[in-house]
Amino acid sequence: MTEVLQAMPAVMGRTHGVSDPTRCPLGPLVQECRERLATLLDVDDMHHNALTAGATAALNQAIWGIGLTLPPGAHIITSVAEHNAVLRPLRHLQRHRQVRVTYLGFDATGALDAGAFSRLVADDPPALVVFTHASNVTGRVYAIGPLFERAKAVGAITVLDASQAIGHRPVHPRALQADLVAFPAHKGLLGPAGVGVLYMAPGIDMEPLLVGGTGEDSDAVFHPMAMPARLEAGTPNSPGIAGFTAALRWQEQDSEAYRHRERELAASLRAGLRAIPGVRLYDDLPDGEYVPVVSFTFDGLSVEEAGHQLAARGIVCRTGLHCAPLMHNALGTAPEGTIRFSVSGCMTHEEIKQALGVVTDLAIRPAIRSQEVER
Ligand SMILES: Cc1ncc(COP(=O)(O)O)c(C=O)c1O
Repeated sequence: MTEVLQAMPAVMGRTHGVSDPTRCPLGPLVQECRERLATLLDVDDMHHNALTAGATAALNQAIWGIGLTLPPGAHIITSVAEHNAVLRPLRHLQRHRQVRVTYLGFDATGALDAGAFSRLVADDPPALVVFTHASNVTGRVYAIGPLFERAKAVGAITVLDASQAIGHRPVHPRALQADLVAFPAHKGLLGPAGVGVLYMAPGIDMEPLLVGGTGEDSDAVFHPMAMPARLEAGTPNSPGIAGFTAALRWQEQDSEAYRHRERELAASLRAGLRAIPGVRLYDDLPDGEYVPVVSFTFDGLSVEEAGHQLAARGIVCRTGLHCAPLMHNALGTAPEGTIRFSVSGCMTHEEIKQALGVVTDLAIRPAIRSQEVER
């Protein structure tokens, strides 16, 4: 990132005299970024990975890009597990087009309800289906492949929000039958903020939301439709892409031990929280697959207060709805939400023990915990 910031602010292919990568390191990095993304996603055409300003930008492009082509009355299915980066574009789309949106809920095991989905698809075939691969509230990974397969059988376009899953588990659009896949660089892939990806499968047609300069076909009055230029108007986020490329290189070559530690630490945090009386874990199946986030509440202590108490004891966490408001109706945690811990492979077993110790402390000493912090 530093190298790119220190180099001449030029874009290879658009500026003369910068064909030498030492003068313009971005060109080869963009190429490498797309190649590594193609490997990560197990797709053939690296040009189908558009670099965006993040997952929100990618999801807006996917939802509006497809949504604006749908006829009035078209049916869209999404789920109660979605982030506002999915829910809000769909709500705004509804305001502008007369589409109908159905929110799929969970079955008794906490999985997206496959039986209800099959019935919905048969009764009222959707034109568009948008699902998250993993919940950003509970960490639960949903088996999206069979749902998308069912949706594609009736001709729906499928959009996967892989924001929470990418990096932590394989995300392969072809195996999952996902036409569009969105994710950011800065979560499980440990890249910088402000960059993301929208993978668009060959054969999917979508208008770009952002149009403008691409450095090619400047005499064309309309934006070029070839990928990736179709979804990449304007000057790219050069340092962000450079950082993302480095993160993808690390993910491909050196991340195995990190991922192993991350899984171990997350499992140990989950098991530890489960064992603390007065702590309620949300979506905790012994054989469920989770990405390394966990949501819980304390009996008799508000989520907000718990956040303050944890912070005062050196534990960083997030509290509230986590931008996924419908999830909390399903979990029974509305309107307050939950306390969420996130684990990374950079953490140590000692830190997990420390966090569990603080949670235990807060869970078993409700009467004195507020006074302690005041002092
Ligand atoms: C499931 C999910 N989708 C989408 C997003 C939006 O990602 P970004 O903030 O990178 O645009 C997030 C971020 O928290 C998320 O957790």
